Amino acid sequence: MLSQDDLKRAVAKAAVEYVPIDCIVGVGTGSTANFFIDELARIKHKIRGAVASSEASAKRLQGHGIEVLSLNDAGDLPVYVDGADEITRHLHMVKGGGGALTREKIVAAASKKFICLCDASKLVDVLGKFPLPIEVIPMARSYIAREVVRLGGQPKLREGFTTDNGNIILDVHNLSIMNPVELEAALNQLAGVVTNGLFARRGADVLLLGTPDGVKTMTA
Ligand code: A5P
Repeated sequence: MLSQDDLKRAVAKAAVEYVPIDCIVGVGTGSTANFFIDELARIKHKIRGAVASSEASAKRLQGHGIEVLSLNDAGDLPVYVDGADEITRHLHMVKGGGGALTREKIVAAASKKFICLCDASKLVDVLGKFPLPIEVIPMARSYIAREVVRLGGQPKLREGFTTDNGNIILDVHNLSIMNPVELEAALNQLAGVVTNGLFARRGADVLLLGTPDGVKTMTA
């Protein structure tokens, strides 16, 4: 029987096909993205380098001898490859379980195509079972928590965690997200929110879903 890691490895392998020759690749964060980084190492002579969405991914890329560039130096990227915590058939996602949501959203925004890599357990009908992460400027913590309660969620501080940008994460429980595009915008309007983990306004373009029957390709 295939393990979850086998499924992640299979989608990571499939994602390499989406990487154009001689390009700079946008690279996500998390256990699935790590498998992709390992696959990317096999074709490192065919790419110019990578832009990483976290310090952790940058380290792993560099460990493989892949050059890591800053997004400011790289310009627009042809492709961004990353996992998700939940994804719908419309390719709307919840991300940020690893806390890298802000840099992930920036690199994704600067990329032409977002290729999302998931094992089958991440595909859901409605987002929100996985707590929605929100990166918040520390002084806004309780204000944002109160606003989130007004929106029907239950915020919980991610204890002992600071983002790569020096901020905190509130994980919002008990949301049933019927309108992800609207909620993404509403949360981003709150003063003190840096980013929220909904990737709906700009979702994925391609989902490579690892299933026991092989890798399925879904498009938005
Ligand atoms: C990191 O901040 C997240 O957005 C990850 O992309 C997401 O949590 C998926 O991680 P796994 O591949 O480890 O499940």
